[in-house]
Amino acid sequence: MKIDRNAPIGVFDSGVGGLTVAREIMRNLPSEKIVYFGDTARVPYGSKSQETVIRYSRQIIRFLKEQQVKAIVVACNTASAFIMDAVQEELEGIPILGVIEPGAIVAAKETRNKRVGVIGTTGLISSGIHKEYLQNMDPQIQVFGKACPLFVPLVEEGWLHDPVTTEVAARYLQELKAKEIDTLILGCTHYPLLRATIHEVMGDAVRLVNPAYETALRLRELLQETDLYSLKTAEEEFPYRFFVSDLAEKFKVFANSILPFDVATTQKIDIEKF
Ligand code: DGL
Repeated sequence: MKIDRNAPIGVFDSGVGGLTVAREIMRNLPSEKIVYFGDTARVPYGSKSQETVIRYSRQIIRFLKEQQVKAIVVACNTASAFIMDAVQEELEGIPILGVIEPGAIVAAKETRNKRVGVIGTTGLISSGIHKEYLQNMDPQIQVFGKACPLFVPLVEEGWLHDPVTTEVAARYLQELKAKEIDTLILGCTHYPLLRATIHEVMGDAVRLVNPAYETALRLRELLQETDLYSLKTAEEEFPYRFFVSDLAEKFKVFANSILPFDVATTQKIDIEKF
């Protein structure tokens, strides 16, 4: 299949959180167009089985293919942990990038004491995928995971700088502090928005890795390697399109709070049809 280098990049997530990844792509690859899909009808993925997340992701990939995307970014950490092998056939050669590997590579480079923490959804932490990646790169690295399920609703409530959130973070992160990690992977789409709170709790000695940012940088390399990097400068038309499976208005409010522009239109689609 011939892929058009000026086609958009498909970015998908279980809901609004993946906008933290889309935002980094917008910042770091400004000439790229994006089609974003947030599965707001079926969020959260973090408490669902691998089988279900694979089924949902296959449907989304079919939808993105219909939008003729040139590459797919799995912005959701849970989906990135669960689906990569299972969706290869669906892709028909379209390059795909998840958020796990780019974050793990940087964590392996950054850690000095070889003690790395990972926080994320219950599904992500129980997958053990970071341990696999990190120990493949360096068998001496010890990996400590902690599920922090309350972070997602706190972020969606907008409580980014709030004593309640700080208290919850202190409770969750206590265990990782005791393990004396020096690097912590923010393994969930929503967590980069809690960076200040997590930093306050963990202290200056712990380097926080934001997979959203690292994924955008890796995406640039991937597009260059595959000759798919868009050569166009700023487009005349608005280069971003947003699709959701439910509650388009709520999505817009969240999107407008984290993106540097207002999302004027969001289209609701029936993802079960795909
Ligand atoms: N997007 C999910 C992730 O990064 C968090 C929200 C969910 O559980 O669906 O793992």
